[in-house]
Amino acid sequence: MDEFYAPTKIIFGEGCLSETAPQIKKMGATRVLLVTGKSNTASSPGFESLCRSLDAAGLRWFHFAEVGPDPETSTVDRGAELYRTQGCDALIGFGGGSPIDCAKGIAASVAEGRPIRDFVGTGLAFTKPVPPLVAIPTTAGTGTEVTNAAVFTVVDERGHRSKKGTSSQFYFPRRAVVDPLLHASMPPALTAATGMDALTHAIEAYVSRFHTPISDMYCLESIRLIGRSLRAACGKAPYSSIPISDSATEAALARRDMALAATLAGVALSQAGLGMVHGFAHPVGAMAGLAHGLANAILLPFVMYALIPDAGDRLSSIGQALTGHIGIGAEESVRAIARLARDIDIPENLKAAGVPSTYFEDVLADALSYRRRKASPRAFTDEELRELLEQMYSGKVEA
Ligand SMILES: [Fe+2]
Repeated sequence: MDEFYAPTKIIFGEGCLSETAPQIKKMGATRVLLVTGKSNTASSPGFESLCRSLDAAGLRWFHFAEVGPDPETSTVDRGAELYRTQGCDALIGFGGGSPIDCAKGIAASVAEGRPIRDFVGTGLAFTKPVPPLVAIPTTAGTGTEVTNAAVFTVVDERGHRSKKGTSSQFYFPRRAVVDPLLHASMPPALTAATGMDALTHAIEAYVSRFHTPISDMYCLESIRLIGRSLRAACGKAPYSSIPISDSATEAALARRDMALAATLAGVALSQAGLGMVHGFAHPVGAMAGLAHGLANAILLPFVMYALIPDAGDRLSSIGQALTGHIGIGAEESVRAIARLARDIDIPENLKAAGVPSTYFEDVLADALSYRRRKASPRAFTDEELRELLEQMYSGKVEA
């Protein structure tokens, strides 16, 4: 028996940011905690326009702008404190994955009346309904605006950092406002890394042991859109084989595809889970500070290559969606993924990305305990995962 549960109302399209304030009012909220990153997001034109529209709607808002990459649980606690002291009744997460995940953590912890740390990596589940959360992504990648997942960094007494993925039905945002215009200011390197994160979600969900016919549909369409548009969104290729004379229009179409692809992949991963690309990307990110999307982008071809014996047919379908070539084989599909990564300037392995080998054993130990390891179509042995990590450090998947 398959299940599919995607409760987030998605509002999509150029300019739909202006729908945020009316949606908050419809949900009956009046005092909003606005959760953003520390730096440029909060000074972007999109953010200013959001604040103006909240003011115009007569909504009070309080800005929590302390979220760093992969928020630490202590950051979530500070946001929850502000939420409580200001008597808020709704949240907006505005930015990349980190502010939105932080807003999810704040919502869940204020509902429970306990620090988020009690629930991260402990097996303790949320049980209480959360306040309404509107997620507004400013990158096309994480899909967290529609997922039941949030990633936090836990720092233990010895200062050891680990990224913990958590999931709960209470994490699904009430609304996702996906406005491709907000993605227009992303530099190409960020577009590349976040776009490959979305591709990784779609591919890992598609090959997952927990995939369903409905999640498959979201994955394949996401992969198709990314194959058509990621190079163009990074300025590396025209949008289509028949170039449109107006380059601004091409860029807008590519951005729209990527925004939709990231959201579709987010819906899929909430149903089908992820795999060992994320199993390795989390510790690499936590320990070596490599951005999540970039880590996934580097690791994706290696893991897919290792899955050829177990997921050959699925990889062929992925290659067909990505390239449009019918009858493409599994190995050629993996090459197509590697080629896409190469074309948008993703380093070919972790060494080339500057990750020192001193992290090897710690990264491996963390990956071996990855909670979603069971979703992988191949039951990798510990020794196989060690060999895979060796490949990721200094090997190469032919493009
Ligand atoms: Fe991801």
